[in-house]
Amino acid sequence: MMNKAILLDKRPVGKPALTDFKFIEEEMPVPAEGELLLKTLYVSVDPYLRGRMRDTKSYVPPFELGKPITSGLVTEVISSGNTDFQKGDFLFGYLDWKEYQISDGKGLMKVDGNAASLSTYLGVLGMTGLTAYLGLKEIGLPKPGETIVVSGAAGAVGNVVGQIAKLMGLKVLGLAGTDEKIETLKNKFKYDQGINYKTTENLSLAIKEACPDGVDIYFDNVGGEVSDAVLANIKFKSRIIICGAISLYNDTEPALAPRVEGKLVINSASMTGFIVGNYADQFPEGIQQLTAWYQEGKLISSETIVNGFDQIPQAFLDLFEGKNEGKMIVKI
Ligand SMILES: NC(=O)c1ccc[n+]([C@@H]2O[C@H](COP(=O)([O-])OP(=O)(O)OC[C@H]3O[C@@H](n4cnc5c(N)ncnc54)[C@H](OP(=O)(O)O)[C@@H]3O)[C@@H](O)[C@H]2O)c1
Repeated sequence: MMNKAILLDKRPVGKPALTDFKFIEEEMPVPAEGELLLKTLYVSVDPYLRGRMRDTKSYVPPFELGKPITSGLVTEVISSGNTDFQKGDFLFGYLDWKEYQISDGKGLMKVDGNAASLSTYLGVLGMTGLTAYLGLKEIGLPKPGETIVVSGAAGAVGNVVGQIAKLMGLKVLGLAGTDEKIETLKNKFKYDQGINYKTTENLSLAIKEACPDGVDIYFDNVGGEVSDAVLANIKFKSRIIICGAISLYNDTEPALAPRVEGKLVINSASMTGFIVGNYADQFPEGIQQLTAWYQEGKLISSETIVNGFDQIPQAFLDLFEGKNEGKMIVKI
């Protein structure tokens, strides 16, 4: 039996393509003493992986050409030479895009398949759930009655931000790219309002009409022109959480944009970049809170599950086309 792996073959220029990836087959790995053999069950594909395909300094090192891509994976222990882990355990870790792989167990965390479905540890009970919760709590400083706008609102981070904001008593407006997503925001995630940014001619005016008293918090997942329209509507002492900027990730030239300094000054507003990894000390509390809400039925898990190891790169590319609702996950 051969093992499959997916390597970064070329550094994408502009929008990534399937030809930037290479599928290979290799000998099945054989664990040495003390090592684990892991079988991949679920793979997280995330917009931030685009940044790691670029050969530039960032908060995580770039992927190396000719080496496997890594992302968040849920795996099953097939054999264990490490007393901390048993055959049959389910583990989360940042691991290679391989069907099977060896690990010494460092950085891996057991996840409980009975407490929640295994895929949720890549979404609402994992990195994207923590991003939503900690970004909103720590930077957004939400107060009941305030108005929040969420971009990328139907995505993995965005849908959780909106749901938590509702739990905290805020008025929530979501921006997303299809009418179906807008219906989901309102009916499933209980957003107060939603706007399709792709079909709305004057987005800034539409936001003004939806939030006549202005925007207290903007949780930004997409950047670019969508954000220009929200920033035109910020309120005195508003907080802007810069979580991501997917609309700019494939740009080959820096984008020109309206200058925001004046708007920030006159509103005494703050705009803060947020990286979830910088809040690792709060992960246990965050996971505890997210799990409690999830188990009480107050927080819904939303996932788009794609089947098959060979579909991992395509699922990643589909993030840039908005093909996912909730967390994009590949089931192996
Ligand atoms: N700072 C952190 O620690 C951290 C952690 C996790 C994620 N992030 C960032 O947070 C953002 C959301 O990540 P996610 O994992 O939750 O992804 P996601 O929202 O589940 O998936 C990406 C979504 O972005 C939207 N999109 C794609 N191209 C766009 C464009 N040109 N303009 C506007 N929207 C576009 C699509 O939805 P539509 O159909 O609505 O267009 C798509 O479904 C990303 O920017 C990511 O890099 C940051």
